[in-house]
Amino acid sequence: MKPGIKKPRPSWAEPYKIKMVELLKMTSPAQRKKIIEEAGFNTFLIKSEDVYIDLLTDSGTSAMSDRQWAGLMMGDEAYAGSRNFYNLEKAVKKYYGYKYLIPTHQGRGAENLLSQIMIKKGDVIPGNMYFTTTRLHQELAGGTFSDVIIDEAHDSTSQHPFKGNIDLAKVEALIKKHGAEKIPYICVATTVNMAGGQPISLENLRALRKLTQKHGIKIYLDMTRVAENAWFIKEREKGYNRKSVASIVYEICSLTDGATMSAKKDALVNIGGFLATNDHDVFEEASNLVVVYEGLHTYGGLAGRDMEAMAIGIEECVHDEHMKARIGQVEYLGQKLLEAGIPITEPIGGHGIFLDAKRFLPHLTQDEFPAQTLAAEIYIDSGVRTMERGIVSAGRNSKTGKNYYPALELVRLTIPRRVYTQAHMDVIAESVIRTYERRAKVKGLKMVYEPKYLRFFQARFERLK
Ligand code: F0G
Repeated sequence: MKPGIKKPRPSWAEPYKIKMVELLKMTSPAQRKKIIEEAGFNTFLIKSEDVYIDLLTDSGTSAMSDRQWAGLMMGDEAYAGSRNFYNLEKAVKKYYGYKYLIPTHQGRGAENLLSQIMIKKGDVIPGNMYFTTTRLHQELAGGTFSDVIIDEAHDSTSQHPFKGNIDLAKVEALIKKHGAEKIPYICVATTVNMAGGQPISLENLRALRKLTQKHGIKIYLDMTRVAENAWFIKEREKGYNRKSVASIVYEICSLTDGATMSAKKDALVNIGGFLATNDHDVFEEASNLVVVYEGLHTYGGLAGRDMEAMAIGIEECVHDEHMKARIGQVEYLGQKLLEAGIPITEPIGGHGIFLDAKRFLPHLTQDEFPAQTLAAEIYIDSGVRTMERGIVSAGRNSKTGKNYYPALELVRLTIPRRVYTQAHMDVIAESVIRTYERRAKVKGLKMVYEPKYLRFFQARFERLK
């Protein structure tokens, strides 16, 4: 091999074969122009059947295995004490080590329970970057979110291998300012979504555990993408190369007091989530509260069959071969874009590629919604649906009503698990490259409708003249 030429990485080919396919509708650019206009330039408002490759989210969009589909047939749809609940409880104990489990319909159901139980008015909840629903539930419970992620996370060009890490000095400063009694817990996310799917290291989590234990502050994990985080630890953290994803996942959880989970991501199901905890008091309160919002504590808004599919998915997602192919596919797409000079968040993250819209469309100000604009342009080009993760997603400060201006203005190309092929990745890359080539001609947007909560889901826009 010539010097300077990188050795190709070992193949990441899928550890499964395809048993069934879903046919897709093809549309023309003229049709898509009309569709995106009618959808108010918001990709959330496009009908799924008008989408060719759907990269809106990796949430609930995974392909389940034949074992999971078979699990659906084993659904025990009793109102109370379903067999599938106990299977799920067993899986959570085995793979994550948490003592108590409350199922919820999805992640935000668990966030609601945790926030209501743990947060008092005036409390501060530190976290490694905000997530939209997590922060909103903290605010609705009377708390204030405070970002304690390392500064590198806000810079899409920083090559830091663990951009999800927590800056311990920021945590110490918060404790000094507010007092530990005002900080009920720290919310630690694995492969931080809004930072571009960037992992946290075990070294950092261990140090955080030491610091918070000294002050009696709990750690609750947002374990939505914990297995993907474990893969990065295996690849990048000293001493973990020979450890299995499963054992790393277990170790991450062991450094925390509990977790909220959106099983729609890592755990390979189309719906489901849970709150898990080692604290009996929290469990008791959550068992009570879940009845108000979700359903009885042995189903939490899910059918028995959903819990069975989740229990099986929890096991499948920690297989090393699964994770190698999963992250390998994301990396394949990212490398193609990097080779074409497209500005993306680096290092390449876990669940998708994040285009840096500020660098992609430098002629637009943040008030002209560059990421929202770029997502619309890519849809028009190819029918590939992506998502804004910038100023629209960031929303407004609930106290001052002012817009947040996040440093990161990104378009997320989120890769569903076990759904698309390498050829799909090629088509996506070509579409982004074509859009980049005509970027100078792209005009921005103005917002013409803004809902009160989580505006990115339903906001509408018009093209600036
Ligand atoms: N935490 C993280 C890190 C998430 O990414 C999500 C969902 C949630 C919590 C909430 O879980 O959707 O099951 O209620 N993220 C999706 C996404 C919506 O597209 O990133 P949920």
